[in-house]
Amino acid sequence: MTERYVLAIDQGTTSTRCILFDRRATVVAVARAELPQSYPRPGWVEHDAARIWRDTQKVVKRALASAGIGPSQVAAIGIANQRETAVVWDRRTGVPVAPAIVWQDTRTSSLVATLDVATFSDRTGLPPATYFSATKVRWLLDNVPGLRARAADGDVLFGTMDSWLIWNLTGGRHHLTDVTNASRTMLMDLTTLSWDPSLVDLCTIPPAMLPEIRSSSEVYGAADSVLPGVPIAAAMGDQQAALFGQTCFEPGDTKCTYGTGGFLLMNTGSTPVRSTHGLLTTVGYRIGNEPVAYALEGSIAFAGSLVQWVRDGLGLIGTASEIETLAGTVTDNGGCYIVPAFAGLFAPHWHSEARGVIVGLTSYIGKGHLARAVLEATGWQTREVVDAMNADAGLALTTLNVDGGMTADNLLMQIVADVLEVPVVRPMVAETVSLGAAYAAGLAVGYWSDLQDLRNNRHRAGRWLPAMDAGRRAAEYRRWQRAVECAVLFSS
Ligand code: G3P
Repeated sequence: MTERYVLAIDQGTTSTRCILFDRRATVVAVARAELPQSYPRPGWVEHDAARIWRDTQKVVKRALASAGIGPSQVAAIGIANQRETAVVWDRRTGVPVAPAIVWQDTRTSSLVATLDVATFSDRTGLPPATYFSATKVRWLLDNVPGLRARAADGDVLFGTMDSWLIWNLTGGRHHLTDVTNASRTMLMDLTTLSWDPSLVDLCTIPPAMLPEIRSSSEVYGAADSVLPGVPIAAAMGDQQAALFGQTCFEPGDTKCTYGTGGFLLMNTGSTPVRSTHGLLTTVGYRIGNEPVAYALEGSIAFAGSLVQWVRDGLGLIGTASEIETLAGTVTDNGGCYIVPAFAGLFAPHWHSEARGVIVGLTSYIGKGHLARAVLEATGWQTREVVDAMNADAGLALTTLNVDGGMTADNLLMQIVADVLEVPVVRPMVAETVSLGAAYAAGLAVGYWSDLQDLRNNRHRAGRWLPAMDAGRRAAEYRRWQRAVECAVLFSS
């Protein structure tokens, strides 16, 4: 019998990737296209959505070619995507009306300041922030000439990257989104899982431009424009996909993905847990008609992006992986701390106006100390989020499952274990975002039969144990917290 595979598209902030998996979750082929970032003004971050669609077609074709298979051997397609990033396009021509506004973009901070925190937090689980889609769409409606009228007439459509890709893959036949992506717009009611008409109205968004909300795992339609007849059977925000790919199916299961940012999610089961410590309440996943699994999330805006800035902005390293070597030339940070509040501070602070700081400089500080402070910044930001998570969930995290590109950095993983004081575990398949999307798609078409089938594929590849002296940990954490206060004081 001819072998069949599940194809995952991971449309991330800095790249678009396609990965083919077999039944044992082995990666059979990978194709990747870098995605350029556009920073037209301070605080603005944009993507070319048309390019994202072209790249998607390219990487899908390349992955199939490298595996030497045709569309008939693809059982299903699953999509995982950068969340919140908003694109609006013309329903008739399919052309985006403006560049997509990326989740890190802070242009809407003054608008966000006018929104009532309780109204949005209670219904959507999200405190108003520039991070989420709603104010980005509102900005486009207010600033692209004639757009509001076209939107009211139903001529333009809004979507996050899942909607954009599904619409294009199905040749413009389906305008929909999954419940995890919808839960990041600041427009979806967390309990009814539908658009909240009063919030949509408050943000002055014409309802006609919103996609239909569907589960994360079901057949949405066929990808006829690229792989004729192949079902698109899953969509999930990338961080939720990683939760699923890490097989975090039980309440309390937690993972952190270190990519552009750092995203820590804990499965909290079928009832949403409202955060009182600065975390987000969000949808973890929904498989078909089964009850939703909710999650608590702590989002860190800058993790891998900070390393990228050290490479591209400062030129201190030639490749991202060199940060580990440079940081390894010293045994500590020399008293230097970096708080990467480039796009404000996300969880647990939610301070849009905070700006990045480097503190503790003396003539003693060299490149190695800076590199170490860069890695430690990711560690301490994780610690802040874990403290909030423990307080909200009323339990103490015992193990942190990690994934994402930065987990190849052993020094960083040791730092995370040290500052959290819990073991850090990395699974064999590091591509958990893609794997989660593949799993959800495979379940929808019967490629995998149930969650146990998926759990059987999980194998551990790395484990780091805490080794830091308790007194040093406490003292360093206090200094980090003082550095964070400086970032807040230095608000733009
Ligand atoms: O919320 C933003 C997040 O989904 C971005 O993930 O991996 O594309 O940086 P990533």
